[in-house]
Amino acid sequence: MAPSTGAGPHRAPSLHVHLADLSAVYAAAEQGPPELPAPENTALRDRYAPGRRRAQAQASRLLVRAALSRATGWPAHRVPVVTDAGGRPHLSGTPAPWPYFNVSHDSGLLALVLGTGPCGIDVEDTGEDVLREVADRFCGTADRALLSEPGGARRLWAAKESVAKALGHGLRAGLSTIHFTGHPGREWSEATWRGRPAGLRTRVVKLGDRHLAVTAAAVPAVVRLTRWAPHPTGPDGRWELRPGASTHMTTGC
Ligand SMILES: CC(C)(COP(=O)(O)OP(=O)(O)OC[C@H]1O[C@@H](n2cnc3c(N)ncnc32)[C@H](O)[C@@H]1OP(=O)(O)O)[C@@H](O)C(=O)NCCC(=O)NCCS
Repeated sequence: MAPSTGAGPHRAPSLHVHLADLSAVYAAAEQGPPELPAPENTALRDRYAPGRRRAQAQASRLLVRAALSRATGWPAHRVPVVTDAGGRPHLSGTPAPWPYFNVSHDSGLLALVLGTGPCGIDVEDTGEDVLREVADRFCGTADRALLSEPGGARRLWAAKESVAKALGHGLRAGLSTIHFTGHPGREWSEATWRGRPAGLRTRVVKLGDRHLAVTAAAVPAVVRLTRWAPHPTGPDGRWELRPGASTHMTTGC
């Protein structure tokens, strides 16, 4: 998906990908707490020890609230996000589950996808050699051609995990039961799960030294991209995420 600045025709539902650099987030989190509702801050403090994992979870929730607030007009503190027992955040108590969203983070990047239907995202910076060593756990003979390519193990891992997350099951879906009818590195490929069409399409791109995979219910005409960064909001070191300008990513390449 090469960035472009022109808006394309909206023949199909659009997707919006939001990214935040985690090195800036880690620095902000050392200065003070995030601008989250108090019960959410308490829950995160109880669940995670101080450190990077807690900062990722804080930034993930800030980004969900801020991006959903911009998409729906709800005040950020009132966006009705809840986390289910399996750890998946989703909207609660709204007439429709719109917008759908999903979050991913690796050691350096936080990513959120918003869509009008079920969607999943995965960013992956784990080394190709590491994933290749365990490839027989998440790949089968149907993946042989894609796996044999340079970067194929990480591309497939990211693609499959984004499908598993769009299904809502996470790794419990069984990554070795997810396959693609095309090449997700070149086109929005149809995903199959347990031998049947999953009703999902997946596209993987290389972003610097990581792979980013996005899964959606339909091939989007446009993928919008917005980058976010932490900003201090008060003298006690509180911080929030604020967006930069949006661009469009073309998906036809
Ligand atoms: C959810 C899961 C896919 C995350 O994988 P990961 O590579 O560690 O993490 P990612 O950064 O890509 O995604 C994490 C985000 O996925 C989201 N998520 C959690 N559970 C999810 C689910 N079932 N479906 C979709 N998204 C989910 C959350 O937003 C989470 O971020 P947060 O904790 O900051 O809120 C994986 O941990 C999982 O499937 N866990 C449940 C099953 C399990 O524990 N299996 C053990 C081995 S089979």
